[in-house]
Amino acid sequence: MSEYDIAVVAGDGIGPEVTREAMKVLDAAGSAYGFKLRRSEYPFGTDHWLKTKEIFPDAAFEEVKQQRAIFLGAIGDPRAPVGLMEFGIIAKMRFELDLYVNLRPIKLYDERLCPLKGKTPADIDMVICRENTEGEYSGSFGYTHKGLASEVATQVMVYSREGTERIIRYAFELARTRPRKQVTLIDKANALRSMDLWTRVFADVAKEYPDVKTEHAYIDAACMWMVKNPEWFDVAVTSNLMGDIITDLGAMVQGGMGIAASGNLHPGRVSLFEPIHGSAPKHAGKNISSPVAAILAGAMMLDYLGEKRAASAIENSVIELIRSKRIKGVNTGDHGTSEVGDMLVAEIRKPAVAKV
Ligand code: IPM
Ligand code: MG
Repeated sequence: MSEYDIAVVAGDGIGPEVTREAMKVLDAAGSAYGFKLRRSEYPFGTDHWLKTKEIFPDAAFEEVKQQRAIFLGAIGDPRAPVGLMEFGIIAKMRFELDLYVNLRPIKLYDERLCPLKGKTPADIDMVICRENTEGEYSGSFGYTHKGLASEVATQVMVYSREGTERIIRYAFELARTRPRKQVTLIDKANALRSMDLWTRVFADVAKEYPDVKTEHAYIDAACMWMVKNPEWFDVAVTSNLMGDIITDLGAMVQGGMGIAASGNLHPGRVSLFEPIHGSAPKHAGKNISSPVAAILAGAMMLDYLGEKRAASAIENSVIELIRSKRIKGVNTGDHGTSEVGDMLVAEIRKPAVAKV
């Protein structure tokens, strides 16, 4: 039986409750498909910081690095200064583990989840490849004359050729595995002239993939297309901040934050999986949040670990439960958090699903 060491950081707000359901479902998948996840749980997050002043100590970080994968629930809590926990935990892992691909699939499982009129699952099936280690998040910022009327704040967008090329290449490789074989570059090169680097690197990489169709959209137009003609997208590649923004829009198009999952990858190395949603502190502990996004992030993790059949069994079970309306919806309050986890466990245990 395959065994995998994984780190689990449940985090803040609704993080622990959605993580609990995701782990329950992954364990059920493990029993059905013959693998075991050996979990090391880490308490990091705002409660832990308030108690100990510790954010993510080096010793723990070294341990986490030795795992095959990391699962994160959610981070963010108004009791901590803005950005402290986000940068100390999420961004630390993304940057220091060099997780340069933020993979964000946007797939509509059932028409009724979509807020757009007349769009069906055939129209919404794309993957956004968000650059995840540089760009607008590079951490190169500062203030002069802080606190004075003449204060100036700056934040530098940093795009390296190497960083740009590897995410673009990932997108082309991914497109090759999909029926439409199309990559759209999303940027703002008309206003942010540094993004000319993206234009040039995209054109260079495209030459190596003559079988992949290329498209381009400026980020503002891409937001418009996402709502007007989402069927236009297959694989899209973009910078860190632009990817951050458009994937929240994408999450809504596929049914809401309660269903959108992501993987932060460095292919071949320890990688991090998390729902796209935040910690929703006001809903914490009430058992009313959708765990589906976390569960699908868990499925992405299994896929990454090589447990492909288990990963598709989880995704197929989500689809089946949604299409049959046993999962009524993925918005807050549609179901109990644990109720949805239970439904998925039962579905995965069914022999028919286990054979997919
Ligand atoms: C995301 C989040 C993070 C980001 C925050 C919590 C720092 O919005 O994963 O999309 O901006 O990357
Ligand atoms: Mg975001």
